[in-house]
Amino acid sequence: MQSLFAERIGGRSYGKGAQIYKFEKIKRAKRAAMAAHPDVELIDMGVGEPDEMAFPESVRALCEEVAKPDNRGYADNGGPEFKQAATRWMDRVCGVSGIDPDKEVLHSIGSKGALTILPACFVNPGDVVLMTVPGYPVFGTHAKYYGGEVVNLPLTEQNHFLPDLGSVPVDKLKRTKALVLNYPNNPTGASATPEFFADVVRFARKHNLIVIHDAAYAALVFEGRPLSFLATPGAKDVGVELHSMSKGFNMTGWRLGFVTGNELIVRAYGDVKDNSDSGQFLAIQKACAYTLGHPEITQKIAAKYSRRMDQLVACLNKLGFKATKPKGSFFLYVRAPKAVIGHDAHRTEFKTAEDASQWLITETLISTVPWDDVGAYLRFSVTFLAKGKEDERRVVDEIHRRLGDVKFEF
Ligand SMILES: Cc1ncc(COP(=O)(O)O)c(C=O)c1O
Repeated sequence: MQSLFAERIGGRSYGKGAQIYKFEKIKRAKRAAMAAHPDVELIDMGVGEPDEMAFPESVRALCEEVAKPDNRGYADNGGPEFKQAATRWMDRVCGVSGIDPDKEVLHSIGSKGALTILPACFVNPGDVVLMTVPGYPVFGTHAKYYGGEVVNLPLTEQNHFLPDLGSVPVDKLKRTKALVLNYPNNPTGASATPEFFADVVRFARKHNLIVIHDAAYAALVFEGRPLSFLATPGAKDVGVELHSMSKGFNMTGWRLGFVTGNELIVRAYGDVKDNSDSGQFLAIQKACAYTLGHPEITQKIAAKYSRRMDQLVACLNKLGFKATKPKGSFFLYVRAPKAVIGHDAHRTEFKTAEDASQWLITETLISTVPWDDVGAYLRFSVTFLAKGKEDERRVVDEIHRRLGDVKFEF
């Protein structure tokens, strides 16, 4: 069988590599640390999904819908209730009016599903797609499956974690089909600005490329309303936006999101989707349509993350990190320390963020996600397990207690 695997997943070498990937390394380190210290609580700041389940009203809505015979079959690209609810949500929550629910919205089995389908609509061998790093690589991975080339645009602190669109070499631009953005951003927590999005529309027009804005964290903002790319004049001419029930409504496992914006892109997405899946269960779609009508759910979730973020920022700054509260998402992205002087006065140097993250897990049972793509950073997620305000305070105090008498060097 070994000779049968496609080159895109490693060909003859598939499954034989000895390389251990980042998230597997974290998992192994966590297991080893817990085995070595079975009485110490592991504080997991590395989780990229909500710590709580969907709100009771969403669960009740699903229970009702699941019992209805009409919802039993293939949904395919249908489900008008969810499309209409998504359209109303875009208007009410994001201030984007005039979306046609029949032609400009289509559900996805999570944003991830849409990011795997959209490359099939645009990428021929040799085409370029522009992705930001560090980031969520799924669109780029599939673009490469189709023979495309990924050009990575670095997100730097000096540029407020917005890509420098002027940095793309002209020869690459000529072959570029798509620019993929994600704000609020995973992992940097950064938000875009209306001025940046206006630049993006100009850039897309000038170079004849499409824009995919992955807005999986859009609703999770700590002040004001979410900034939709589609609120930018001309955005609908060049792109689509991806929204998700996962993060903003505690519904990661439910697998539902939507693609909205340019009619032709939505149609192409629907054509390929029709050949890829048979649509999300209508009971889930209808329960999510109900949930979209309750944006106060997201506001409550965002308020919790905002409160936790304030505590964590204060705690990390006391420990010598330079933490700034983001405007949205649940990610706090801080420069990784270069070394630490531990309880026993022993100095440990960190060459990478991964080294720092492994030390934190092994020595202090605090788990984070390291990013070494553009500088060395640690991502703390405020989705750590805690039941209520007092418990949140306790967890953050415990971080301070464990790290209070070591000295980090930056
Ligand atoms: C930037 C980004 N996009 C998309 C996704 C996928 O979300 P969904 O659950 O909607 O598939 C994630 C999940 O972690 C993400 O971080």
